[in-house]
Amino acid sequence: MRLDLSNSGITEKEISKYKKEVEKAHEKIYEKTGEGSDFLGWVNLKIEVPELEKIKVAASKIRKQSDLLIVIGIGGSYLGAKAVIDALSHSFNPKSVIFAGNNMSADYLNDLLDFIKDKEISLNVISKSGTTIEPAITFKILREYMEEKYGEEGARERIFVTTDKEKGVLKELATQKGYETFVVPNDIGGRYSVFTAVGLLPIAASGINIEKLLAGVYEAEKKYEKLENNDCYRYAIARNILYKKKKKIEILVNYEPKLHYVSEWWKQLYGESEGKDGKGIFPASVDNSTDLHSMGQYIQDGERTLFETVINIKKPYVDFAIECEKGSIDKLDYLNGKTLNEINHKAMEGTIIAHTAGKVPNIMLEVEKIDEMNIGELLYFFEKACGISGYLLGVNPFNQPGVEAYKKEMFRLLGKLEQ
Ligand code: PA5
Repeated sequence: MRLDLSNSGITEKEISKYKKEVEKAHEKIYEKTGEGSDFLGWVNLKIEVPELEKIKVAASKIRKQSDLLIVIGIGGSYLGAKAVIDALSHSFNPKSVIFAGNNMSADYLNDLLDFIKDKEISLNVISKSGTTIEPAITFKILREYMEEKYGEEGARERIFVTTDKEKGVLKELATQKGYETFVVPNDIGGRYSVFTAVGLLPIAASGINIEKLLAGVYEAEKKYEKLENNDCYRYAIARNILYKKKKKIEILVNYEPKLHYVSEWWKQLYGESEGKDGKGIFPASVDNSTDLHSMGQYIQDGERTLFETVINIKKPYVDFAIECEKGSIDKLDYLNGKTLNEINHKAMEGTIIAHTAGKVPNIMLEVEKIDEMNIGELLYFFEKACGISGYLLGVNPFNQPGVEAYKKEMFRLLGKLEQ
């Protein structure tokens, strides 16, 4: 992976002004001296062999006994798994892992129950707190469905719980019912938990090689641990420089539809980590070239408060050569001899030229191809940059006090007595 700031309008001099601040942020991460330092378990994560084996055994049991794994969870308890699975799976093959408990739509649940009625299923319910309303309600309904369909004993073989090691309603329920459990480490918040059992069990159950994924993460831990020449830190600095220049919205851009949920995961990571104390870049995303035909107008021509970060995937697995005779009826002869991937990249290059001319600074992340190692590195890169960037901004990147306000109102309206 490589960071390219050549179209960002940022100079090396501007970057070097952050030297001291970055040193401080780096120290806060490694010496655990900053706000939120109890939540730094993801920085040097190592999944021990017994835990990895336990995840692999459960994943293989799930694959043997079911057509489908339903993952119940919301926010950091599902977005990482969804991002990795979508990025590394066939775009059209039926999915073996699907997601629920990330909304409270009756229609969604009804469609899900209809969809699974002739299928063998397993459940992985994921909630660190164990009290989040969306997964709690969905789990109640699907647990009852499972007990009806498979009996208490059969359901026990098919329900897997990922939650706190010792506390919470879900932990109590799992103990009482005898479900197999996996742990969300105390020192890792939801949005930084994709490489723990939270993400790894669903990812493994989808058939993805989690060892290769983790190899990418471990390599990234080493690659981005140094203070000097660290692309991860340069990205964090660049965002903060642009923010100070009144570029308040960052759009994560991809040209590969499989990365849609990487952007959804990234939006949660940066939105919850930085949007606080009246500060923070608003994280947005587009899937190009699709969205050039919808959001492209605004980005080119609307309020000048935007900058873009493009994930540039250099190589596809297979490319298509375009052959068009001169004067052909579809008037595509100017494409003769080019490949589809080259054309996709010309769309990207042309867009960057047009957008930077339209005063939308551009940051680029070059990724060789979409595979386990690179996805592991990319997600770790964003996590680390987020921690550093949050400290540069002067906020605690590891809490989310703002999400409590709506919950208080919702529970009051629902008549919940203790909150
Ligand atoms: O990043 C976070 O902490 C949140 O997005 C949580 O992951 C989300 O709210 C779900 O919480 P829980 O896992 O406790 O159900």
